[in-house]
Amino acid sequence: MSHVFPRFANIEFPVAVKGDGPYIIDRQGRRYLDACGGAGISCLGHSEPAVIKAIQDQVARLKFAYTMFYNNEPAEALADDLISDAPAGLTRVFYGCGGSEQMDGTLKLARQYFVDIGEPQRTRFIARRQSYHGGTLGSLSVGGHLKRRELYRPLLAEAEHISPCYAYRGQREDETEEEYGLRVANELEETLLKVAPETVIGFVAETVGGATAGCIPPTPGYFKRIREICDEYGVLLILDEVMCGLGRTGARWACDQEGVAPDLLVVAKGLGAGYQPISATLVADKIFAAIRDASGFFMHGHSYQAHAVACAAALAVQRVIREQNLIANVREQGELLKRLLEARFGDHPHVGDIRGRGLFLALELVKDRGTKEPFDPALGLWLKVMLKGMEFGLMCYPGNGTADGTRGDHVLLAPPFNINSSHVEEIVEKLALTLDSVL
Ligand SMILES: Cc1ncc(COP(=O)(O)O)c(C=O)c1O
Repeated sequence: MSHVFPRFANIEFPVAVKGDGPYIIDRQGRRYLDACGGAGISCLGHSEPAVIKAIQDQVARLKFAYTMFYNNEPAEALADDLISDAPAGLTRVFYGCGGSEQMDGTLKLARQYFVDIGEPQRTRFIARRQSYHGGTLGSLSVGGHLKRRELYRPLLAEAEHISPCYAYRGQREDETEEEYGLRVANELEETLLKVAPETVIGFVAETVGGATAGCIPPTPGYFKRIREICDEYGVLLILDEVMCGLGRTGARWACDQEGVAPDLLVVAKGLGAGYQPISATLVADKIFAAIRDASGFFMHGHSYQAHAVACAAALAVQRVIREQNLIANVREQGELLKRLLEARFGDHPHVGDIRGRGLFLALELVKDRGTKEPFDPALGLWLKVMLKGMEFGLMCYPGNGTADGTRGDHVLLAPPFNINSSHVEEIVEKLALTLDSVL
């Protein structure tokens, strides 16, 4: 009998014992093609020699030195690497061990910034519906996915939520993509005016909506308008690129594709690529300066932040991505994957939308393509797709509540950056077997 408390108490999952490129191998020797990097994490597959060696070398030299007393070399080198081509104005990095924890720390930093510059009345955040920013109480408070919030609602901090930029469901027939994007971006201004802008700390958004919305890229001009509104009312723009950042969408920073720079930029999953748990926030110079010039102390910290082995692993991951020109491969294989998905599922009666950017793609499943009506949530379609995929040797990442927070299903694909065209074909073949079987 297992003593592990699993996510699903009544489903027995295989035991993973080995990684081999984009495959995970279980105890029975079955191979699973990882078409989703777990949850968009394993961007270099499961056996990258340069990363494994960097971890071994670092742990032999210095495993860890507590940040209350020491800085360490890998943390410095990784921060240099991240800042070297960061969006304009971001000059400092603070670390954590995962996306949720990093979002919490970032929200706290944003609050401290305003206290330190003499605006303590700023106490609230505005975020978007159908968003996911993590599972801790702070990050779940800004998250906008009804189903994930419901159970814990009495424990959550208050936050305002505006519409996501979700053209498939939100765009009206009488408006262009750009007009739609402006309309939903302007909801930020309406909400600011409703709650009093001088009480708001920041606007929080995933640059490309991921786990709960199923890879929704912003429409052209959406984030430019958001940035304008934030500037007009002195509100911080906090972009969560935990899942979509560091190359996943075909650019190192997803916000570069939108032509905007945030004040705080959060990354995690692809940073350590699953080789080590690590996350980071890139911080605008003015925020660092405010804290330096006020108390000089960021009132936040965790035991393992800036962990030397995790930073060394993440630095090796970033170097492999650069040296092997993998972001170009993300664009190339991403285009191929999208093309093959459209060819195979473009006319499928239950695939309503195929969307995303780079190797960050999703299929939204619907009961009726014409009306876009979702399947009954009681069917638990997302879970069936996941389990059936594993029977066919495919890991894909399905989600639910896509349409409105409670109804709707999607399948998210986020394979490693170093896959080739034969892996792409294998993903589409196995996904077709899976969906034909389940639907
Ligand atoms: C956009 C986004 N933010 C935050 C998180 C939370 O990250 P973690 O699971 O590492 O705590 C996730 C996880 O899926 C995410 O997709």
